[in-house]
Amino acid sequence: MRKKVSIVGAGNVGATAAHWIASKELADVVLLDVVEGVPQGKGLDLLEAMPIEKRDCQILGTNDYADTANSDIVVITAGIPRKPGMSRDDLLNTNYKIMSDVVSKVAANSPDCILIIVSNPLDAMAQAAFKQSKFNRERVIGMAGVLDSARFRTFIAEELKVSVENVTAFVLGGHGDTMVPLARYSTVAGIPITELIPAERLEQLIQRTRDGGAEIVKYLKTGSAFYAPSAAAVEMVEAILKDKKKILPCAVYLQGEYGIDGYYIGVPCKLGSRGLEQIVEIKLTPEEDAALKKSAAAVKELCAVIGV
Ligand code: NAI
Ligand code: 2OP
Repeated sequence: MRKKVSIVGAGNVGATAAHWIASKELADVVLLDVVEGVPQGKGLDLLEAMPIEKRDCQILGTNDYADTANSDIVVITAGIPRKPGMSRDDLLNTNYKIMSDVVSKVAANSPDCILIIVSNPLDAMAQAAFKQSKFNRERVIGMAGVLDSARFRTFIAEELKVSVENVTAFVLGGHGDTMVPLARYSTVAGIPITELIPAERLEQLIQRTRDGGAEIVKYLKTGSAFYAPSAAAVEMVEAILKDKKKILPCAVYLQGEYGIDGYYIGVPCKLGSRGLEQIVEIKLTPEEDAALKKSAAAVKELCAVIGV
């Protein structure tokens, strides 16, 4: 039997995630939204692409949570995206209400699923989903680091004119201005980028990574990025469905790791069929450690506002 992935929020990120999942033939997909007709229309349209793409996936668009029952994974992208001039944090109260409603319905219909949270502000929304679902922390994982690292990898590959396949990079911390791109752990064919890119230029690439979301919002004007974000969420889905034991930067609930207790923050994680299977603790310099703690403090502030 094929695996089942439900996506709540059939907007730009959600519908594009459905597209990636179907095009990789990873699972049957249920696409759910509050707006009537939109998930049905997008779901049917995508289903009709399957004969052309030669993929056997069922794709169902719906407004009814009963259709999501017994999903293996539920990706939550429901909420409002930011517009020019807005930060991710400006979405806090609206998206918290949406997240609470969505998670209670998802958890009731798929009590054994793994949740991948995408809605912003990411770390606070993951924390809200964790508290609301009462799932263990292994089954509530936030997507941000894969996206932020992919942006950093893109800029490094462009700078050095090398294949993106040669570039690995790690961006830790919260998904916001305080994110922590780790140049020391970023490499090109195994060579640390600190040996390949002068420090001043590297700092510019790091800043562009921090501003990566805002750069796209500025172009789009009416919404935010969705191709890379959905691809990032689907890399996590694939790692879990295929039990790949893949190390990816994900937002997870820390219980003392990295000296942080009781908050979601991006750190290197091993993803497999049980969801979060291991938090990988790497040695940070005092500066990197301070940056991660600063990022955690920013997440803590947001969580305090919504009381999670
Ligand atoms: P969008 O506006 O295109 O789609 C959001 C969808 O959620 C809409 O179709 C809307 O009808 C639906 N929705 C709203 N309330 C709902 C509810 N109660 N139940 C079910 N569906 C509901 O927005 P987009 O671009 O898809 O972004 C979605 C979210 O993901 C935003 O909060 C955005 O900031 C966030 N995001 C996070 C990223 C990350 O790295 N973690 C990257 C990109 C986006
Ligand atoms: C991004 O980084 C908006 O969080 C979203 O593109």
